[in-house]
Amino acid sequence: MFYPLKTSPGENAQIDLFEAIQSLKKEKNAIILAHYYQDSDIQDVADYIGDSLGLSQQAAKTDASMIVFAGVHFMAETAKILCPDKKVVLPDLKAGCSLADSCPPDRFAEFRKAHPEHLVISYINCSAAIKAQTDIVCTSSNAVQIVNSLPADQKIIFAPDKNLGRYVAQQTGRELLLWDGACMVHEIFSLEKLVRLKQRHPEAKVIAHPECEEAFLAHADFIGSTTALLKYTEKSDAATFIVATESGILHQMVKSSPHKTFIPAPPENTCACNDCPHMKLNTLEKVYRCMKYELPEILVDEDIRKPAERSIRRMLDISAQLGL
Ligand code: 13P
Ligand code: SF4
Repeated sequence: MFYPLKTSPGENAQIDLFEAIQSLKKEKNAIILAHYYQDSDIQDVADYIGDSLGLSQQAAKTDASMIVFAGVHFMAETAKILCPDKKVVLPDLKAGCSLADSCPPDRFAEFRKAHPEHLVISYINCSAAIKAQTDIVCTSSNAVQIVNSLPADQKIIFAPDKNLGRYVAQQTGRELLLWDGACMVHEIFSLEKLVRLKQRHPEAKVIAHPECEEAFLAHADFIGSTTALLKYTEKSDAATFIVATESGILHQMVKSSPHKTFIPAPPENTCACNDCPHMKLNTLEKVYRCMKYELPEILVDEDIRKPAERSIRRMLDISAQLGL
């Protein structure tokens, strides 16, 4: 993709961003890790595309000198926590997460204090300061298995996503004390419009991310993390899927099953798109710039990083034991 780029004040140059990014990768021994919700151009230049579990596993094992994290802040922060000696850059420092923001560290500390007998499991979609107050981190790929790996009488706080927490409680038959947080993208789907869409496509399978609300999940034929949803569409005999998660995932679904039809689940709003405004702040140009200038860099204070690393490594260890 040729792109007019201001290289110095008053000067404009046309550069091929795909080529320029490939040569920066070699020059800087950099790896690009991209989440499925990224723009398709970014997915196409990435070395690895995955869900939150896959991305953290890749970050933990890379020998690259620089990790370019095409995702949101908590994801890049997780990579930095696991790789304190590597440079971790995020294309846009403002790429945050409504779910992570719904759990402020000081309020969470009070919540934990009020429930001292509870073990804390936190969804990876939270800040480093929350991970530092957590016993075991989880993702949507392993939350059920992690809860199941604990003794049946263990009291558990599950934070910050109440929708994933409720889904995990149903799947495990456990009582979980939930933090009242949610993702703005997965709570926007319209049940009324979904019912009408299903009437028009009775053959379609509804697939949904567990961050969706309970009433919406009740209509799903399959529920799973982004990687699990993608794998389901690859293996299923169905030809049409209504996809209830962020629209970026459709790029890989169409790529791996070009003969199948993917319909984004309809949101309440009128723009008819399921884009995460945080994820979509990253652009190919910003990927290029952050690699070239090695900015903005993600840094985490050691007093937060160390306890946060413990809770993430516990998740990685349990996942490895379970073959996830
Ligand atoms: P997964 O890719 O782990 O399913 O997470 C979805 C998500 O909302 C990331 O922000
Ligand atoms: Fe956060 Fe939701 Fe966006 Fe994921 S999709 S980054 S959970 S706001």
